[in-house]
Amino acid sequence: MKPLQDSFSRVIDYLRLSITDRCNLRCLYCMPSEGVLPLQHGDILSYEEIIRIVEIAARLGVKKVRLTGGEPLTRRNITFLISSIKKIPGIEDLSMTTNGLLLEKYAQEIAEAGLDRVNVSIDSFKPERYREITRKGSLETVKSGLVAAEKAGLKPIKINMVPIRGLNDDEIMDFARLTLTTEYHVRFIECMPSGDIDFWSPDRYITTDELKHAIEAISPLTPVRMRKHGPSKYYRLSGAKGVIGFISALTHHFCEDCNRLRLTADGKLRPCLFSETEIDLKSSLRSGAPDEEIERLLMLSIQIKPEGHSLGGEKESRFLSMKGNMMPETAHSPEKRPMSRIGG
Ligand code: GTP
Ligand code: 5AD
Ligand code: SF4
Repeated sequence: MKPLQDSFSRVIDYLRLSITDRCNLRCLYCMPSEGVLPLQHGDILSYEEIIRIVEIAARLGVKKVRLTGGEPLTRRNITFLISSIKKIPGIEDLSMTTNGLLLEKYAQEIAEAGLDRVNVSIDSFKPERYREITRKGSLETVKSGLVAAEKAGLKPIKINMVPIRGLNDDEIMDFARLTLTTEYHVRFIECMPSGDIDFWSPDRYITTDELKHAIEAISPLTPVRMRKHGPSKYYRLSGAKGVIGFISALTHHFCEDCNRLRLTADGKLRPCLFSETEIDLKSSLRSGAPDEEIERLLMLSIQIKPEGHSLGGEKESRFLSMKGNMMPETAHSPEKRPMSRIGG
């Protein structure tokens, strides 16, 4: 099959499915404390609708599917969705990004249904601080979830950590050292301005360069090539079992390697995380569109995929240029949907 390519010759083979906008946490950088008004049940794509879209996308060349949220494990009967997607010819990698709170309960059954692996968001290994950042989470529950995920074979387990100055930056070295003794992929994600949440600020956010510099005090970081590429650049500390990844959404754009499309829980195709442009698939699905029409809309979203995003532009760049980083031209303004409605 000829690979799917966008107008900038990028191969598009990864579909991120946000299957719910609901979440059992309220992370400071993602949601307001009161949460966001949830979508109505009827506005959310049914599993049958999602499966049909993935079948068509797989025929076009999508090989990798990720379930995101909100928190995907809060949606009922997720094993049905997982086993149905797993059966679709052409889907080689089926993963999930989760906050891990429900993993202890579901790890075994989602693994048996065919999920290959999980990425778990943990921003602190100090229980009180974890609760402060997530506003309501229990670290013990997430830790039990990690154990259950490992036991169920949902590997490699990737831990997503968003370092924030003054909040959890004193744990950066501990997160990095975790890779010395475990096989985890510990990934540091530059905090991104999100929707209309007013959390992001130049004082809070920490660049990859700063993190790397600090972590190299443990030992040199040797670059590691990963078979499946993504936004993260990986390194290994000397003798470490696991690897360290850096996702530098602001300072080192990975747009030129972007291989993904997103589908929101309410059925909109989003060619880029940070562009507000969306294509409404749900209306077409619900008005009886044939597969050819869904295919056309998928192709359209690939054709209009922008070359890059504007983060690291405007107010962020003023700060970054002070730090000597070069920012690319701005192309789009940051979106207004909260991150929990897009799935990261
Ligand atoms: P792997 O396949 O395991 O590498 O997954 P992933 O890194 O694509 O997925 P994950 O959901 O764990 O995302 C990690 C972080 O990268 C999250 O903070 C996402 O918001 C961010 N991210 C993922 N895709 C994009 C993207 O296209 N653009 C930007 N700017 N950030 C992204
Ligand atoms: N900046 C960086 N990462 C974010 N995530 C959610 N919001 C932000 C943000 N504003 C991360 C979560 C999770 C992943 C899906 O996205 O920590 O790991
Ligand atoms: Fe929920 Fe993830 Fe947002 Fe935290 S970052 S509130 S876990 S959707």
